[in-house]
Amino acid sequence: MRVLGIETSCDETGVAIYDSNLGLLGHRLYSQVKVHAEYGGVVPELASRDHVRKLLPLVNEVLAATNSATTDIDAIAFTNGPGLIGALMVGACFARSLAYAWNIPAVGVHHMEGHLLAPMLEDNPPSFPFVALLVSGGHTQLVDVRSIGEYQLLGESLDDAAGEAFDKAAKMLDLDYPGGPAIAKLAELGNPDRFKFPRPMVDRPGLEFSFSGLKTYTLNTVAEHKQENGLPDDQTCADIAFAFQEAVVQTIAIKCKRALEQTGYTTLVMAGGVSANKRLRELLTHNLAKIGASVFYARNEFCTDNGAMIAYAGCQRLLNNQQEPLGVTVRPRWDMTTLAPL
Ligand code: KG4
Ligand code: ZN
Repeated sequence: MRVLGIETSCDETGVAIYDSNLGLLGHRLYSQVKVHAEYGGVVPELASRDHVRKLLPLVNEVLAATNSATTDIDAIAFTNGPGLIGALMVGACFARSLAYAWNIPAVGVHHMEGHLLAPMLEDNPPSFPFVALLVSGGHTQLVDVRSIGEYQLLGESLDDAAGEAFDKAAKMLDLDYPGGPAIAKLAELGNPDRFKFPRPMVDRPGLEFSFSGLKTYTLNTVAEHKQENGLPDDQTCADIAFAFQEAVVQTIAIKCKRALEQTGYTTLVMAGGVSANKRLRELLTHNLAKIGASVFYARNEFCTDNGAMIAYAGCQRLLNNQQEPLGVTVRPRWDMTTLAPL
């Protein structure tokens, strides 16, 4: 089965073609980062309009790049939640209409299930069961994954998501949006011994996260060291970036270890934008090897939003005869644990 995947839940337009026999044939991504950069965050209406502009050209590009005729496509998978309602509506209406015109089935995909399954696109995919660490701009969750669609939430953030915390800390240091990669880059210049930021909620049992206290701590540290221009000097900014990132990744690593011990699993799959963080990958791989567990993640371009993960996840559901009725229903909020198992 050959599936066209379409992702428009936030600020990236992703399009891909996945073939159940041949694997991923091609993908294209258009990032709206420049559109939103001057506002320091995603402006929903601008995101929707940009998806309208980019979808058709990207679909044509992917078809051409993979030498696919429109008649080679057997089904369409699209993100129908969670995400920005306008952005989701653009992708869903586009995908559902195209499927109707081509007389093929369409399936709506849960964005986080797409992230969770993205490591399956790699040469050495993880096998079930595993603990998934989902760390994106909107989610920080630990999930017990028994098979596709069999998800049990083990713990999540009580306030900000990890990616959101990175983005907010970056703003405090006047770094570009999106903040995660910017903080990670600056942290490389930081002095590891200068500051030690608190590791939230590690002293109590459980698998919940909280990043809002760390955010306030970061803000206070920035304020304490600021100069006339409102910012600390360059080295201090780097030292703060290091301490902030270290606090986030160490906290996540402690909870991941706990989740593996609790479930008895020996595989951790990390997914979502923050799983592109080099320090987080290193730390998890190192710490979890000590308890005999292995860590899997997707290549960088498939950690952040993309069409390939949606084509893959949709294909699995289509192969199990799941598909969408003609009406378009998007779900800006959508609990992944309510999905039907395959
Ligand atoms: O999964 P994603 O592309 O979109 C959502 O579904 O939210 O995740 C985007 C988030 C942003 O908050 C961004 O700052 C963060 O992932 N991010 C990173 C890195 N790359 C992206 N955070 C830390 N380190 C990175 N290298
Ligand atoms: Zn995402």
